[in-house]
Amino acid sequence: MRLIKLFILLFIFSCQSPYQKGEKLFSQHCSNCHGAEAEGFRKLYPPITKDLYSTYSDKIVCIIRYGLNDSLVYNGIQYSSSMPGNDILSDIDIVNLKNYLDWKFLAENKYNSLPQVKKELVDCK
Ligand code: HEC
Repeated sequence: MRLIKLFILLFIFSCQSPYQKGEKLFSQHCSNCHGAEAEGFRKLYPPITKDLYSTYSDKIVCIIRYGLNDSLVYNGIQYSSSMPGNDILSDIDIVNLKNYLDWKFLAENKYNSLPQVKKELVDCK
């Protein structure tokens, strides 16, 4: 009986890692440009840092879906290439990505919900 309880607990904990999905999506859809550790790539792709992410986090949902063309400057480097939008990622994928990014770069554990993200996506344009 004890063993069963232990397995049930383990199962619950393994489902509760809310950022795992986002982390995986990041490595599939973002790291090819931004790097596995979001360290960026030369003068082509900016790193994702706490500073930069806090500037863009409000718009991240729209950026992921529709891309970004800001020619941003960071640490004296101008990134003149633009980020393409991604129409493969579903709305729920974007929720998971945003939850992961908020946690990783802003140390925020708040949970962005699907209805909230859907609304933001409608308001993008
Ligand atoms: C094809 C390359 C490419 C891919 C794939 C890509 N990005 Fe970007 N990203 C860029 C470029 C280039 C910029 C800078 C755009 C500009 O200056 O207008 C950027 C900017 C950003 C920014 C704002 C600046 C910063 O560095 O913090 C964030 C946040 C970001 N990307 C997150 C993501 C996420 C999340 C994904 C995956 C869903 C992703 N990107 C996929 C190329 C890419």
